[in-house]
Amino acid sequence: MDLGLAGKGVLVTGGAGGIGAATVRAFAAEGARVAIHYRSSGETASALARETGGVALQADLTDEAAADALVPAAVAALGRLDVCVANAGVWSQESLPLVDMPMERFRHVVDGNLTATFLTCRAYLRHVREVGHGSIVLVGSTSGIFGEEGNAEYAAVKSGLCFGLARSLKNEIVRFAPRGRVNVVAPGWTVTPMVGDLLDAAFVDRATATYPLRKVATPEDCASSIVFLASDAAAGHLSGQIVTVAGGMEGRLIWS
Ligand SMILES: NC(=O)c1ccc[n+]([C@@H]2O[C@H](COP(=O)([O-])OP(=O)(O)OC[C@H]3O[C@@H](n4cnc5c(N)ncnc54)[C@H](OP(=O)(O)O)[C@@H]3O)[C@@H](O)[C@H]2O)c1
Repeated sequence: MDLGLAGKGVLVTGGAGGIGAATVRAFAAEGARVAIHYRSSGETASALARETGGVALQADLTDEAAADALVPAAVAALGRLDVCVANAGVWSQESLPLVDMPMERFRHVVDGNLTATFLTCRAYLRHVREVGHGSIVLVGSTSGIFGEEGNAEYAAVKSGLCFGLARSLKNEIVRFAPRGRVNVVAPGWTVTPMVGDLLDAAFVDRATATYPLRKVATPEDCASSIVFLASDAAAGHLSGQIVTVAGGMEGRLIWS
């Protein structure tokens, strides 16, 4: 099936990370031109831009002015911006009950996920309001659906993205883009730099105990769902949906 993405302009935030880089490559394979946003991974982003014919753009998305400037920079570089993938995010590898959680960690995770996504969407929606079309794919997490003991602050912000933000923005975008859509990909455990070497055999065995497919995701598993949701040809009547990329996950084991 032709996804109709050839020649489209796409912004992927956190585009040099695990899921981000796979998403950049998947869009490029469909003939889209991609603005690869990065915060600190400049060399990876530049190499990916050379590989895919895209452009690398830097911004710390917790900084309001930097986030506001990112979208106009992407439009200037690509000439158009049909899709925004709000993928950048942070997660702590240290499992810590909320009862012991310092405010610094809470603020870091809220800013790195919710604030960054709010600012990305605001900047992109200003562009959509000007041109009258566009769509958004947010990257949430199964933690926002099932919770995540030891990372409650992350689960709370990802719930905010998956539910409150997506379901509000899907109704706001159509006020100025009648075919505008907002959807969510919610990955489960995925092999990326974010989780590092945490995913050893024992961890995977426990983490996937409620997955009928009994495996963690590859970044490509997530990327293909993101590209599908971004495609007006394939997903043009889908909005406000959460695609969970977690092998049929039903929940979490609470007791060993
Ligand atoms: N891996 C998993 O198991 C998993 C599961 C569920 C959901 N997710 C979600 O998937 C998304 C991608 O994560 P990933 O696994 O691919 O991790 P990753 O490789 O660590 O990528 C995350 C990217 O976010 C960018 N980023 C972080 N803070 C930023 C900030 N303040 N401003 C701008 N960019 C920032 C980083 O950019 P730089 O490298 O340039 O600094 C990084 O490349 C995240 O939203 C994450 O929460 C991941």
